[in-house]
Amino acid sequence: MNILRAFVPLAFAILAPTVAHAGSVASPDGRIVATLDTSGEGTPTYSVSFDGEQVIDPSAIGFIFTDSNPMRRDFSVLEEKTASVDTRWEQPWGERRFVTDRHNELAVTFRQRDAAAREMTVRMRVFDDGLGFRVEFPEQDGMPVANIAEELTEFRIASDGEAWSIPAGDWNRYEYLYERTPISALSTVHTPVTMVLENGTHVSFHEAALVDYSGMWLRRMEGTRLRAQLSPSPRGPKVVREGAFNTPWRTIQIADGPAGLFESALILNLNEPNALGDVSWVVPHKYIGIWWEMHLDESSWASGEKHGATTANAKRHIDFAAEHGFRGVLIEGWNLGWDGNWFGNGRDYDFTTAYPDFDIAEVARYARQKGVRIIGHHETGGNIDVYERQLDDAMALYGKLGIDAVKTGYVADAGGVISRAADGNEIFVWHDGQEQVNHHLRVVETAAANRIAVNPHEPVKDTGLRRTYPNWVSREGARGGEYDAWAEPKNGPDHVPELIFTRLLSGPMDYTPGIFSLEGRDAVAPDIPSTLARQLAFYIAIYSPIQMVADLPENITAYPQALDFVKRVAVDWHDSRLLEGAVGEYAVIARQVRDSHAWFIGGVTDETPRRPKIALDFLPKGRTFVATIWEDGEQADGLGDDRHAMDVRQVTVRHGDTLDLRMARAGGFAVELMPAAQ
Ligand code: NOJ
Ligand code: CA
Repeated sequence: MNILRAFVPLAFAILAPTVAHAGSVASPDGRIVATLDTSGEGTPTYSVSFDGEQVIDPSAIGFIFTDSNPMRRDFSVLEEKTASVDTRWEQPWGERRFVTDRHNELAVTFRQRDAAAREMTVRMRVFDDGLGFRVEFPEQDGMPVANIAEELTEFRIASDGEAWSIPAGDWNRYEYLYERTPISALSTVHTPVTMVLENGTHVSFHEAALVDYSGMWLRRMEGTRLRAQLSPSPRGPKVVREGAFNTPWRTIQIADGPAGLFESALILNLNEPNALGDVSWVVPHKYIGIWWEMHLDESSWASGEKHGATTANAKRHIDFAAEHGFRGVLIEGWNLGWDGNWFGNGRDYDFTTAYPDFDIAEVARYARQKGVRIIGHHETGGNIDVYERQLDDAMALYGKLGIDAVKTGYVADAGGVISRAADGNEIFVWHDGQEQVNHHLRVVETAAANRIAVNPHEPVKDTGLRRTYPNWVSREGARGGEYDAWAEPKNGPDHVPELIFTRLLSGPMDYTPGIFSLEGRDAVAPDIPSTLARQLAFYIAIYSPIQMVADLPENITAYPQALDFVKRVAVDWHDSRLLEGAVGEYAVIARQVRDSHAWFIGGVTDETPRRPKIALDFLPKGRTFVATIWEDGEQADGLGDDRHAMDVRQVTVRHGDTLDLRMARAGGFAVELMPAAQ
C-alpha cells in the first residue's frame, strides 16, 4: 500500500511532467520580477520580487464552482507568450494629462489534466510601478458556463508590516474609518489595502477593470497569507459567465515609498481605452448644492414645511453659483418618493415627477440663462429594480433639460440592494456583487447616451473604468464630508492622510469638501476636527474633476479668503506629484493646472503639527512665480478652540527656492503658484 502511494504521484509526474519554472517577466526597469509557475500539485502559482527581495511568495491562482470540479490543481503548461508595450496616451481630464504605459507581459496557458481538459490563461503585466494579472477563460466545451463559487487567488505576502484597511462584508459598505494594524492582524478587508513591509517597501493591493464580475475582498487566512473572497450573491454562484471571459486584473502596486504609490498609473493602464469617443461634453467643474442644509437637518429631502428643493431655494443657489463662478448646482430631494422610508428601500421613487413646489423646467431654464448647470440627483435607496425600470426616461429627462451631470445614490445596507429574481420576487444583492457591478455600468452607458456625467454615492469601488467611460467622473465609496455633519466620531485628523494612500489610489472621490464653518449638527458634537486652511487643502489633496463647495452659501461668504481660494483653485490637472508624506500621517501634493503653467500645492496632516520645507524644484527654471499661501495661523489648532485662524500671504518664488509652511494639528495649507507677468 505504502509503495503504491509513493508510486502514484511519481507515475503521474512521468506521464505528465509539470514545468519546473514556466516563466518570469521583469518590469522595464528590472526591479520587479514576477514568475508564473505550477507548484508540485500542478497548481498555477505566481510570485513577485522587488530589488531581489521577495514581496509575494509562491501564491495559488484558482477557482471553485457550484457545479463542476475546482480549477486549482493538476494543470500543465500548454503555452507561453511574451509581449512588451511602450506607449503614452492622453486623458480627457484627470490628475495628469499624459499617461505612460510601459510594461512587459507574460501570458501562460494552463490545461487541466482531466477529462474536461479546461484551460485558462494567466496574463501578467509588469510595470515599473507594480503589476497586474488576470485569468482569461476561452470559450470551451469543458465549461460553457462558469458558475464561480469562489476565486482562490492568493497573496502570500513575504513579510509582515503595517497595513491600512477598512473591513469588507459589513453593513456600511466602504464607509468606515481606516484601521492601522500589522498585516498579520488583518481581517477581511476591502481594496485598495495599503501596506508598508518590514523592509520599507510600499505595496497596495486592488483590482482594475471590474466588469461583469464580483468585487474582490481580501481575507487573511493565516499569518500574512491573504486570499481573494468575492462579494456574495443571493443567486448562488458569486459570478456567472458564459463563453469566453476574463477576471478583472488583480493589481499590486509596489514602490520604495509613498510617492511611488501616489504617482502610480497602474490601475488606469490596465483598463481599456475610451469607448465613448468624443467626450468634450464631460466638463470638470466646481459645484454647490441644496445639500449640507439637509445633512444639518435644517431642511428636508422629504416634502412639507422643511422641504429644501423648492423653486425659490434653487434660484437662490443658482444666483449664488452665477455670482461666484461655480458651474454646478446639485439639487437633492426634488422628485417624488422621499416621503416614505427613503432610507433603505427606494420603492416609492419616481425619477421624472417633481414635488409640486419644484418646477424643474423653470429651474433648468433659469440656470441656463444664468450660465449655471443643474446637477441632477437620483437617490435610489438601493432599489435597482425600481431605478432600472425608469432609467431611460430619467436620463432622457435630464438630457432634454440640458442637465449634463447626475449624482446617483444607493443608500442601503451592504447586501441590501433590491433586485428581482426570475420568479418576480425581490432579492437583496451586494453593493459590489456582479449584479450591482453591471448595474453601475448600465447607468453610466445610459447616461453617456444622453451626454451626462455620473457621480455615484454608495457606489461600487473605483477600478479605473473612467478611462473606458470618461463620463464616470467621480464617486463616493469612502467616508466623505457628510460624516462631519452627523456622525460620531467624525472624520478624524488621520482620515484624509489615510484616504490619499488607500481609497484615492483607485481614482477620484466626491468627498464634498469646503465646510468653512467647521460646524456639524449642534446635537452631535458640532466641532469638525479641522482648521479652515485644511478645508482648502482638500481641493488639492483629494483628487476629483468635480469638486463641491459644500457649506451653506451664507457660510461660504462669511469666509472671504477661503471663498477667494475656492474660486481660484483648478479641478483639472496636467500633472500631480507627492512632494512629501507618510501613509496615514501627512501628505504634501503639487499639481500643475492643465493647459497652464500654474501650480497648486496642498498639505494635510494628522494630529501632529508640521512645518514642511517645500523645495520648488518642480517649477521650470528662469521663470518667476507669485505664490499665494493660505496656511494655519500661529494659534490655529484643528482640535482646539481656534480652528479658523488662517494667514494669507504672498511671496515671489522661482525654481530652487524653498517655501516654509505651517500645518497645525488636524491642519493644512494651500498654495497657488501663478507665473508672474514677464
Ligand atoms: C448619501 C450621500 O452620500 C449623500 O451625499 C446624499 O445627500 C444622501 N445619501 C441622500 O441621497
Ligand atoms: Ca454616503
